[in-house]
Amino acid sequence: MKVLVIGNGGREHALCMFIKKSPICKKLYCIPGSDSIKELADCFDINPMNNIDVVNFCIKQKIDFVVIGPELPLSNGIVDELKKEKVVTFGPDKISSQLETSKIFMKNICKKHNIPTAKYSVFNKEKDAINFLNEVNFPTVIKVDGLAAGKGVIIVYSKEEAVENIKKIMSEKIFGSSGENIIIEEFLEGEEISFFALVDTNGFILPLTTAQDHKKIGEGDVGPNTGGMGAYSPVPFIKHNHINDFVEQFVKPIINDLKNSSILFSGVFYAGFILTKNGPKILEINVRFGDPEAQTIFPRLKTDLLDLLLASSTGNLNQFKLPELENNFCMNVVLSSKGYPKDYKKNTIINGLNEITNDKSKYVFHASTKKNGNHWLATGGRVLSISAMGSTLKNAKNNAYNIVDKIDWKDGYFRKDIGWRHLQ
Ligand code: AMP
Ligand code: GLY
Repeated sequence: MKVLVIGNGGREHALCMFIKKSPICKKLYCIPGSDSIKELADCFDINPMNNIDVVNFCIKQKIDFVVIGPELPLSNGIVDELKKEKVVTFGPDKISSQLETSKIFMKNICKKHNIPTAKYSVFNKEKDAINFLNEVNFPTVIKVDGLAAGKGVIIVYSKEEAVENIKKIMSEKIFGSSGENIIIEEFLEGEEISFFALVDTNGFILPLTTAQDHKKIGEGDVGPNTGGMGAYSPVPFIKHNHINDFVEQFVKPIINDLKNSSILFSGVFYAGFILTKNGPKILEINVRFGDPEAQTIFPRLKTDLLDLLLASSTGNLNQFKLPELENNFCMNVVLSSKGYPKDYKKNTIINGLNEITNDKSKYVFHASTKKNGNHWLATGGRVLSISAMGSTLKNAKNNAYNIVDKIDWKDGYFRKDIGWRHLQ
């Protein structure tokens, strides 16, 4: 098969690496890709948000299968356009991507079917939102409806802080049209975990596994949110019966609700849960793999990744009873530029990367680097993500940090405590 991956980050580096291993992948392409992805795929400098250019590329190159990494091209309807040309594509169409692109869309489905989620109210007028603050307990959570690159959720601890943020969103429009509608939501307490399933074009749900991300920049989960500073999979205390509950209580009713409105979702169903003392509640749904969670899941898969993605897109997931996963742990540590998620220096030199070789137990994924002669330069906020396997979470952690130690990057930063909640 000729396979095209869309995207250029650490998740897409991982997608390319594991798709390339598949015996059915004869040729791999990536749009736009990166210098590290170029080692695996032919990269083309096409804007992934330009649907016409992407579709034309697929027709010209006779691409058999397209895998979309990030949410933005999904929200831009790339799957709809490729399907019109009969190009088999992994990921949901524009209308079903609303599970991720509109928090109100997702919450309304939950409300309709009594699916456990935080209590919430929706506002499209600043004045009404501010008046409502007299009725809430603090902390409370303010969310913009649309996509906001992981920055659209603000936990506020006082009425003043809430008013200030509502004004920024609704008057100053700091999130543009994504903040035209907002949600004010009950603050949930408990541990946060991610659950991943694949759904096929017939609505068949194949649970994959769990992971735990570390979204805050600082050790002990303090400071501003980031795209994710490290993750591990699986979450040790989540057992088979929990996974069954996630599917029955959450994924199935949501997929069925869409089906009843003639919306056929297929692709990744990535649910963020808070495990409250009253049971799991769903926080958010994403319709693509998590980054860096994907980098902890793919190394554990014994089932061929390309087979799974293809089966999701062709309605054949029922051929897999359950995906086969290694019975061990994988930990991923993200290396970011010092200063991220605020300002940071660009084009700083990273040494030591050429001396590390990936094998079945360890992987270096590049999120934003470029090659300058024989050197790697850091070009963005989250720059590298290092995965390692281990028979226990502790072993996986030791193995991952042993690789991190080999990287010599004075302008880099990483958290030393990934996995801390379960490694006390
Ligand atoms: P989201 O984009 O919805 O995943 O929100 C980003 C982060 O904000 C989540 O990963 C949680 O850590 C936190 N968060 C979101 N909603 C709530 C809530 N209702 N209660 C507590 N924390 C929340
Ligand atoms: N790591 C969080 C996400 O991919 O949304």
